Amino acid sequence: MAKITKINHVAIAVPDLDASLTFWRDALGLTLDHVEDVPSQKSMVAFIPCGDSEVELVKPTADDTGVAKFIAERGGGMHHLCFQVDDIEEMLADLKEKGIRLINETPQVLPGRKMAFVHPKSTGGVLVELYQLT
Ligand code: CO
Repeated sequence: MAKITKINHVAIAVPDLDASLTFWRDALGLTLDHVEDVPSQKSMVAFIPCGDSEVELVKPTADDTGVAKFIAERGGGMHHLCFQVDDIEEMLADLKEKGIRLINETPQVLPGRKMAFVHPKSTGGVLVELYQLT
């Protein structure tokens, strides 16, 4: 069975990156590694390492994304939790067999990683991302 190896990141949906950094970087003292434009997700992402994991601040760059809707409804907040796994295909097949609802039945393949989301209906309301480095 596939194994979870760590929490890769916790993603926070934010309407304004600079305003959010006043808490995450300036008040908490975490270091901003870099900000990346991620066109495939229509967002700007600030990567903030925290030990072996990261906090990602995600600011949508379009109104038609899940994160943009999330911010419109709730003003922002914790958006998803991402587990790093050693074999994402096997993990997805195993979850499916256990009756867990998946948003992506096959992983999205991106440079350096594969990713898929598990539906919050099956997780007690938490959007869970699975991530395999490739
Ligand atoms: Co993520």
